[in-house]
Amino acid sequence: MSYFAGKSILLTGAGGGLGGEFATQLMDLGGELILSDVKLESLDRYKSYSGRGRVLAMIAGDIGSKEGTERFLADVKKVTHCPDIIINNAGIAQAGAFGDVPLDRWEKLMNINLISPMRICHFFLPDMKSRGSGHIVNISSVAGIVPLPGGAPYTASKHGIKGFSDAIRLEYEKHGIHVSTVHPFFTRTAILQSERFGINVNVEDYPQFLIESPENVIRETIKAIASKTDFILPGPTAKVLDLTRRLAPGMLSLFKVF
Ligand SMILES: NC(=O)c1ccc[n+]([C@@H]2O[C@H](COP(=O)([O-])OP(=O)(O)OC[C@H]3O[C@@H](n4cnc5c(N)ncnc54)[C@H](O)[C@@H]3O)[C@@H](O)[C@H]2O)c1
Repeated sequence: MSYFAGKSILLTGAGGGLGGEFATQLMDLGGELILSDVKLESLDRYKSYSGRGRVLAMIAGDIGSKEGTERFLADVKKVTHCPDIIINNAGIAQAGAFGDVPLDRWEKLMNINLISPMRICHFFLPDMKSRGSGHIVNISSVAGIVPLPGGAPYTASKHGIKGFSDAIRLEYEKHGIHVSTVHPFFTRTAILQSERFGINVNVEDYPQFLIESPENVIRETIKAIASKTDFILPGPTAKVLDLTRRLAPGMLSLFKVF
């Protein structure tokens, strides 16, 4: 039986590129999904899903603020006391030299990519602890292990979620709780068309063979989650960049995108 069969799985950003792959691949493996995104319409495609698993609920939730995240968590609690698996996948990006990115934009990014996932973990960890089981999957990025110039707030948020996850893993592993981080390289989703401030360089100008497909990234990620891997590097470029930062960090400047 699959690791996911019959498990309740809370997934944020389910209307997006990687979220969509997570939702369908996990349901095909028997998972019972609580799907959420800012707008319910982005989840419409799941209404007709008929496979092994099922949709437990679809919840509109904006995790860009403390109040929005609290409302979202109260709605999740109406569906389940505590999900078996939480996937903090929702995220945004921006491109621009740090001083050119308006304060309200990068503060919002920090909320969505780092603070709200921490709030979600803070809300459910006591229940997971008393149950003695749980799996938290936090979606970081290659920018969570190497710097992405032109994306300083994104880099900060993704390094932050990695460090946070590593700490709670050590705190909670004795309570049967697993924590995984996922570090994809550029993958073909809407996030590649994120807001730009003062720069015109496009990821579309990047060698296209290096851009990953969402389907492959998530297939590899799901296999690694099922084997309770802590540190997940889906796709060849993520693995090469991880090796480079360990063995020859000076070469990382060759991978400058913006
Ligand atoms: N695509 C890539 O190149 C790439 C690489 C590394 C990591 N990631 C990470 O993967 C995750 C998924 O991104 P994606 O590539 O699928 O992008 P995407 O833009 O397709 O999906 C992101 C989803 O997050 C949702 N979201 C944005 N703001 C929100 C908010 N305030 N409240 C709730 N939901 C919100 C969006 O509506 C969207 O559905 C993100 O955390 C991203 O940082 C993506």
